[in-house]
Amino acid sequence: MRAYVMTAYGKLPDVVRLVETPEPTAGADDVVCTVSAAALNPIDLKTIEGGLKRVIQYRLPHTIGFDASGTVHAVGSNVTAFKPGDEVFVRASRETIGTFAEKIALPQSFFARKPAIIAHQEAASLPLVGLTTVQGLIDRARAKAGQRILIHAGSGGVGTFAIQFAKAKCLDVTTTTSSRNADLVKNLGAYRVVAYDQQDYRKEPGGYDIVFDTLGGDFTLDAFKVARRGGSVVSIMGPRPPVRLNVSRRPQA
Ligand SMILES: NC(=O)c1ccc[n+]([C@@H]2O[C@H](COP(=O)([O-])OP(=O)(O)OC[C@H]3O[C@@H](n4cnc5c(N)ncnc54)[C@H](OP(=O)(O)O)[C@@H]3O)[C@@H](O)[C@H]2O)c1
Repeated sequence: MRAYVMTAYGKLPDVVRLVETPEPTAGADDVVCTVSAAALNPIDLKTIEGGLKRVIQYRLPHTIGFDASGTVHAVGSNVTAFKPGDEVFVRASRETIGTFAEKIALPQSFFARKPAIIAHQEAASLPLVGLTTVQGLIDRARAKAGQRILIHAGSGGVGTFAIQFAKAKCLDVTTTTSSRNADLVKNLGAYRVVAYDQQDYRKEPGGYDIVFDTLGGDFTLDAFKVARRGGSVVSIMGPRPPVRLNVSRRPQA
């Protein structure tokens, strides 16, 4: 079977090759899936460029890709939730990346049934952005109906999902994007759109219950200025930049 591998850390397309590899086999808890569609996320590019080296060292060449959708080909002896022929979608972990391949074998707990009403291409686009959104809005921010949320980069992979999810949870959604994508995010359910090439979101009325930061840097720090007192700031952009805290020292005796 064929799979995309990174041959070294570096820039696309130089370090990625389509190669012949042995078909994966199912361990006792694994599902082998024939991949119909796989989705590219920013983390795939960061992985290829070596951005994850601090947290995980891959032995190169290594298969790549986190998200996929396809059909169950075979299952291990302990697998009860799926059978050959089931349509599924899946997210690999950092340790098991490799969905840009004709077949993948992953633990059954990584898979979910693909709803029949969506195509494989749509299903493949969901796992990573969906998990990120649910972890951010529900697990961390404990979002509740009626709350006001600012979602940065509403036209991005995470933002487009987060707007729809927040709207479905009855939150009042404000989002930032370029004016080029203003109609897109309105159609997804954003109530207020701040086009960053025309307006400064920091000058709009703030007081958000939740700020969902998908941009990092100053956006992370400024999130604390536009959130209401006692509100939540959730960033998916890793460690915040160093901050000089304005803490007054106790006078020396
Ligand atoms: N994808 C995931 O599941 C995931 C999970 C965890 C962390 N992350 C991280 O989160 C970040 C975003 O991921 P993504 O998948 O949403 O990326 P993406 O699909 O590449 O989207 C980035 C978006 O940022 C918007 N943007 C750029 N500058 C902006 C600004 N000043 N104000 C408002 N919007 C701006 C762009 O919108 P315009 O085209 O309108 O300018 C673009 O749509 C990445 O760094 C990624 O590594 C992603």
